[in-house]
Amino acid sequence: MTNHQGVNRMTQSTSLCDIGFIGLGVMGKNIALNLADNGYKIAAFDLDHNKVDDLIAQDELERTTDQARIIQCSSYTELLGKLRAPHLIILSVPAGAPVDDVCQKLIDAGICADDIIVDTGNSLWTDTIAREKSYHGKFIFFTTAVSGGEVGARFGPSLMPSGDPYAWARIEPVLEAISAKVDPVTGKALERTSIEQPLPKGEPCATYIGPAGSGHYVKMVHNGIEYADMQLICEAYHIMRETLDYTPKQIATIFRQWNQGVLNSYLMEISAEVLEHDDPETNLPLVDIILDKAGQKGTGLWTAVSALQVGSPAATIAQSVFARSLSTLKHARIRAAKLLSGPQVIKAAATDNDVIVQELHDALYCSKIVAYAQGFQLIKLAAREQQWPLNFGAIAKIWRAGCIIRAAFLQKITDAYDRDQELGNLLLDSYFADEIAKYQGNWRQAIAKATINGIPCGAFSSALAYYDSYRTETLPANLLQAQRDFFGAHTFKRVDRPQDESYHVKWAEPGRPLIKVD
Ligand code: 6PG
Repeated sequence: MTNHQGVNRMTQSTSLCDIGFIGLGVMGKNIALNLADNGYKIAAFDLDHNKVDDLIAQDELERTTDQARIIQCSSYTELLGKLRAPHLIILSVPAGAPVDDVCQKLIDAGICADDIIVDTGNSLWTDTIAREKSYHGKFIFFTTAVSGGEVGARFGPSLMPSGDPYAWARIEPVLEAISAKVDPVTGKALERTSIEQPLPKGEPCATYIGPAGSGHYVKMVHNGIEYADMQLICEAYHIMRETLDYTPKQIATIFRQWNQGVLNSYLMEISAEVLEHDDPETNLPLVDIILDKAGQKGTGLWTAVSALQVGSPAATIAQSVFARSLSTLKHARIRAAKLLSGPQVIKAAATDNDVIVQELHDALYCSKIVAYAQGFQLIKLAAREQQWPLNFGAIAKIWRAGCIIRAAFLQKITDAYDRDQELGNLLLDSYFADEIAKYQGNWRQAIAKATINGIPCGAFSSALAYYDSYRTETLPANLLQAQRDFFGAHTFKRVDRPQDESYHVKWAEPGRPLIKVD
């Protein structure tokens, strides 16, 4: 076999490898090749030996010298034997039990206390904390969450490492090398999309997040924001189709225009590309032949659950998870569509189209700001609870390139945290407050029109409801507290007394006396 430059296949080099790599699925294979591009010699293993063969073949095709960059291993023991000590092993295996299974196999194979295992999967952050404790003394369990899908993994993902600082010091050059890069002056992503392109030099999208679990927590919320971003784009698309009768290709053109401005993002770009694409079998727009039942792997759900537990109102993120759940009730929806009444959609007059498109643009923009504000607020509250000293500006920075939610917009979030490291909510930053002040009229119009027409826009609406609730000084929670006190003697605070005092009305007694509760 020859590589792309016609070099003959070499026998595998006998020098020791820098990194052991276990798990060669789509992500693992690409991360391994990315490491090899960056000069690391890899010992690779997967339970499925065909996957190892595929990777070796790919390396032969891609490498530009006759030196094998990736060495095949057929067991955990062989893998350890081929590595320089102390061993550095990267895992790309499914989250959950497989991570522990591989760790145990490596313990059995003789891994040492000073060796590092790095989990790159979408693991649940609490599992990560438990693992760091349970493997203490056996080896150093470190993690880096990875975002960017298969292309990101191959040419530069966004990385969210966390765990033992000593392990970070050892692995930092490796993770920085393989991560996406950003132009330090413009803040723009330096794209690499093929092996022919040189490795970009710039600010790495990899930064130490904090103690064990924090990196996976941040990645989990990244995915929650991703769910909201996607759902918001879908709602803008849906309203355009229903009220303007635009075709997918017309909407793709609008999305491409939007992608030139404040809504510039990877998700906007790929949505346009999807809407332009026709099904090769029917020649219909592909989107029209895709069943409208959304899947999910769990990270959005985890974000929503954590938001409820922490008490951080990430309503737009949770709504986006519910939107996926509701989409799966296809049979019920087909039945309900026939049984349940709603308004007739009033098609917009062609002369109003531009106005409606602008309203939707602004609704998407304002809702997106709110979704990110919710995500960052959630991370902040969780970090306070877990006592993680996180740097929010740095988190926004590593999401500027490589990851799925990458967007020009992230630079604005970094700027906001540069202005105020302690910022409690992005909405309170002067830039975002001014942006919403400018565009909220159209945001409200878009939601009002969709609602009058009976077109669901739960993520748009929940974002606006969050915004309006957040800026309301007195909420009806006073009545709610009274209700709780009435049926459950749950007590309440008074606005005119110290907050550490509690009061209760003896509702059942004549005269309903008010008492102070100790
Ligand atoms: C990323 C993605 C990645 C993956 C999610 C999608 O950041 O690279 O978020 O983690 O695509 O698993 O999750 P759902 O299947 O839940 O949409």
